Formats: sequence, C-alpha cells, structure tokens
Amino acid sequence: MSEELKKHEVIISVKDVDKNFIVGKNDIVALKKVSLDVRATDFIILYGPSGCGKSTLFNIILGLDKPTKGEVVIRDTKIYNMDDDERSTFRSKKIGMIYQMPYWIKSGLIDKKCW
Ligand SMILES: Nc1ncnc2c1ncn2[C@@H]1O[C@H](COP(=O)(O)OP(=O)(O)O)[C@@H](O)[C@H]1O
Ligand SMILES: [Mg+2]
Repeated sequence: MSEELKKHEVIISVKDVDKNFIVGKNDIVALKKVSLDVRATDFIILYGPSGCGKSTLFNIILGLDKPTKGEVVIRDTKIYNMDDDERSTFRSKKIGMIYQMPYWIKSGLIDKKCW
C-alpha cells in the first residue's frame, strides 16, 4: 500500500539541472538550469527544435546520463546518489520507456515467442 500513488503526488522532480558535453576543446551547453515537476496524473509532451536538449533531458531523467549540476528525484529517491548498478536496478523496477523505431529489436526469437 505504501507504493500507492496519490493523485497529485510529484513523482519526478528535475532540479536546476545543467548538462555540458566536453568535446575536444569545446564545452557544449545542452541544458542550463532546467527544473520541472511531474505529478502522478500528468501527461506531458516535451517539444522543441532539434538540438534543444530533449533527448539529453530524457536520458538524465532515465538515469542514463549524470547531470553536470543539479539533481533528479524520482519518488523521494535522488537517483544520482546511487551507483550505476543501483540505478540500473531502480530503473528496471520503476521506469518504462518506449523508444522510437530505430531502437526496436528485430528478433526471430521475439517474433516466435511473443506474436
Ligand atoms: N553525446 C554528446 N556529445 C556531445 N554533444 C552532445 C551529445 N549529446 C547531445 N549533444 C549536444 O547537446 C545538444 C542537445 O542535444 P539533444 O539533447 O540531442 O537535442 P534534441 O533531442 O532536442 O534534438 C545539441 O547541441 C547536441 O549536439
Ligand atoms: Mg532527440
């Protein structure tokens, strides 16, 4: 019962996140001071021009890419306080993600077993 979500509970909180990519001598600022709260019943569309940082933000929320600054809290857990293995386990239990088609796996085994 403790896992039950309250209707307007904040389940994802992004706090003051910066993300910089260092490429050679270039410091690429992908995200600067990004904050947002997602509540249990929210349906959110994140949109913007190519290169504005959508994928970077998703990767950070998924726990795949550590922010340069700031933090991500998912249901009271600061996900970047965990080590990589703990965060992978957390992700496998708490987060679902459906990628665009290029990430889909074409597998004869899956074809036979699932469809
Ligand atoms: N792994 C990376 N290395 C260097 N620069 C990156 C990397 N990933 C993204 N960027 C840069 O960060 C910015 C945001 O990219 P991205 O998050 O992919 O944008 P979007 O998904 O909105 O198109 C862009 O300037 C992009 O070139
Ligand atoms: Mg993208």
